[in-house]
Amino acid sequence: MEIDMTTNEIPVRAASAREPAHPSITPEQISRLVETFYQRVQNDVRLAPIFLQQIPGDWGPHLEVMKRFWRSVLLKTGEYGGRPVPVHAKVANQTDGGLTKADFIAWLALFRQTVGEIFEPGAQPIVIEAAERIASSLWLATNGDLVATPPDWPSQQMPS
Ligand code: HEM
Repeated sequence: MEIDMTTNEIPVRAASAREPAHPSITPEQISRLVETFYQRVQNDVRLAPIFLQQIPGDWGPHLEVMKRFWRSVLLKTGEYGGRPVPVHAKVANQTDGGLTKADFIAWLALFRQTVGEIFEPGAQPIVIEAAERIASSLWLATNGDLVATPPDWPSQQMPS
C-alpha cells in the first residue's frame, strides 16, 4: 500500500475493492453476455421450461437485473442489491423435481460457451469461476443440508 506523500494519507480499501475482476472486462461485454446467454437459455430443452414458468412474458426486466448483477460481481459496481438464494429456492419449489445438478450443469455449459465467445482469454476463467462459485451456493441452498458438499462442476475436472 502506498502513502500519498502530498497528504500523508493511506488510501482507503474501498477504492481498490472497486477494481474490475479483470482489467479487460467492460459493461458492454456484460450486456452481450446476458443477452446472448438468456437467448440460449430460452432455446434450451432442459432450461427453457423452468425459466418460462417464472418469466412467461417480457424478459426485459430480468435481463436488466442480470446485467446489474454481473456488473456488481465483475466490475464491483455495487448496483445489485437482490438476494438470489431465496429467489432460487422459490424457483426450485415451483419446478418438478427441484433444481438438480443436471440443471446447473446445463446452465454452466451455456454460460461457459457464451463467455468463451465474448471475453478475452485472460478474463474467461475469472468469469466462469465466479459463476461456478455462485452455482455451488445456489445448489447448496436448493439441494443441500448442513453437511452437503456441492458437486464438482465438469469444467473443474477438465481441461483436456
Ligand atoms: C439451474 C440453474 C438455474 C436456474 C434454473 C435459474 C433460474 C432462475 C430464474 C427462473 C430466475 C428468475 C426468478 C424470478 O424473477 O422470479 C432467476 C433469477 C436469478 N438468477 Fe438464476 N437460475 C439458475 C442458476 C443461476 C446461477 C448459476 C446464477 C449466478 C451465477 C444465477 C443468478 C441469478 C440472479 C442474480 C437472479 C436474479 C435474482 C433477483 O431477482 O434478484 N442463477 N434464476
